[in-house]
Amino acid sequence: MKGIVLAGGAGSRLDPITRVASKQLQPVYDKPMIYYPLATLLEAGIREILLISTPVDLPRFESLLDDGSQWGVDIRYAEQEQPRGIAEALLIAEEFTSGEPVTLILGDNVFYGDFGLERLVTEFSGGAVIFGYPVDDPARYGVVTLDDAGNPLSIEEKPANPASRLAVPGLYVYDGKAAEIARGLRPSARGELEITEVNLEYLRRGELQVVPLGRGIAWLDSGTHDSLLEAANFIATVERRQGLKIACLEEIAFLKGYVDRDRMEQSVAAMPESTYRRYLERMLDSAT
Ligand code: G1P
Repeated sequence: MKGIVLAGGAGSRLDPITRVASKQLQPVYDKPMIYYPLATLLEAGIREILLISTPVDLPRFESLLDDGSQWGVDIRYAEQEQPRGIAEALLIAEEFTSGEPVTLILGDNVFYGDFGLERLVTEFSGGAVIFGYPVDDPARYGVVTLDDAGNPLSIEEKPANPASRLAVPGLYVYDGKAAEIARGLRPSARGELEITEVNLEYLRRGELQVVPLGRGIAWLDSGTHDSLLEAANFIATVERRQGLKIACLEEIAFLKGYVDRDRMEQSVAAMPESTYRRYLERMLDSAT
């Protein structure tokens, strides 16, 4: 399974902070936002990743994340020249995915809690898998409705009158047909190739599975100043209480066995003095 992180978009809702760096490079408490979706992929065992961003922001992502070898993964980069929609990422990534299944995650989607993505990815046998997460303000998202057996009935992008409270998070697992489906799309009223249209096509083919995410899982929004602050506070609360970091890529890579102790010690030694470095030193000390 390959992974795509789409970190594009104009970020205009966070202006003026996004004049300095794109939304996905903004901090969520103690690390850049992009660490969180990357952590979701790494924890699911996805180690070949294409990061897609704007021509302006791409160099910043490259200097932050490098080629991924420090975490035992392979990160490559591609440009999305204009914000032409999430589904366009599937076309940009076509050569990278070369017909293999792929997990696509948006660079501003922060998940907390184990919802079995690793197993889902390992056992994935085709079609598409999306998620349904109850929210109070579904009109801001893609909204899915399910029948009593949990099968999807409909998906609507930002409906004025949502038929359910189940928002579709920016995390999608597709088989090799997704790019071909995306190629058949026409831009929507907002001028984008809509990922909802890709999901609808899988639904029409009877190949869409919706996994409900419920209590115990946090899917945090970071698209407005307030929600960004709330996400940071949430992460800070859990981290301070447990003394454990969320989405610490070095730690995940080490615990998953993507890098050995030597490699990890090298990375830590190259870090400036910081609480992040001290956390990793402590983690290495206590790991057997
Ligand atoms: C996009 C998708 C939407 C999805 C959301 C999740 O919305 O179009 O279906 O629910 O991401 O973050 P956008 O960020 O383009 O408003």
